[in-house]
Amino acid sequence: MSRTRVHNLSISLDGFATGEPQSAEAPFGHAGERLHQWMFATRFWAEGGTAGIDDAFAVRHSDGIGAEIMGANKFGPPGWPDDPDWKGWWGPNPPFHTPTFVLTHHPRPPIEMDGGTTFHFLDATPDEALATAAEAAGGRDVRIGGGATVVRDFVTAGLVDHLHLVQVPIVLGRGVRVWDGLEGLEETYAVEAVSSPSGVTHLTFDKRAS
Ligand SMILES: NC(=O)c1ccc[n+]([C@@H]2O[C@H](COP(=O)([O-])OP(=O)(O)OC[C@H]3O[C@@H](n4cnc5c(N)ncnc54)[C@H](OP(=O)(O)O)[C@@H]3O)[C@@H](O)[C@H]2O)c1
Repeated sequence: MSRTRVHNLSISLDGFATGEPQSAEAPFGHAGERLHQWMFATRFWAEGGTAGIDDAFAVRHSDGIGAEIMGANKFGPPGWPDDPDWKGWWGPNPPFHTPTFVLTHHPRPPIEMDGGTTFHFLDATPDEALATAAEAAGGRDVRIGGGATVVRDFVTAGLVDHLHLVQVPIVLGRGVRVWDGLEGLEETYAVEAVSSPSGVTHLTFDKRAS
């Protein structure tokens, strides 16, 4: 049975997965790159990086994944739907290597990239998008790649089986928060926390059998 997973979603102590305002120059707004410093230090990200707790969590991002779903604001800065040549932030060989479904109210034809990534653009409910992505994943799992809005929507819809968040010890004060509307989440998920010597805390939420 295909599972739906979130990995490496980095949040501030106050629950923001991005700062503001998002722009082409500052994709994470005033957060800059502070939410992901823990990941940049790992072997998962760069040769010669660390091989400890952070790396052990980070590498799970790709294991057994057959498709990704992401939000329009992860795919590009505000206004990208007006640019017919926009193909995402990641260059010719994006790090997804699977069919990748961009949820947007401005769909366009698919874009085939190098390395196995094809971007598909969907205006669909979370249930419909997941059904489409699961079929494309061919029995493997579907990753919900963010940002905060899309992760929150899929969790709210009861569609996420495994949620891995990385709490970074910074306070952003503003941006887009993951937790809004998710009161009582711990009742439907088994929650574990692992502290890393790097200063971040890995939080995992695994859906309880109903
Ligand atoms: N902290 C992390 O680990 C992490 C991970 C990934 C991304 N990010 C960052 O998070 C930010 C993006 O997050 P976000 O919360 O602003 O936005 P998002 O979740 O990426 O995208 C939300 C947008 O997607 C479109 N959308 C969502 N659901 C839809 C549906 N069912 N049907 C059609 N369109 C739908 C809508 O855009 P339209 O109406 O405009 O089409 C909506 O405004 C970026 O800064 C990104 O870099 C952070």
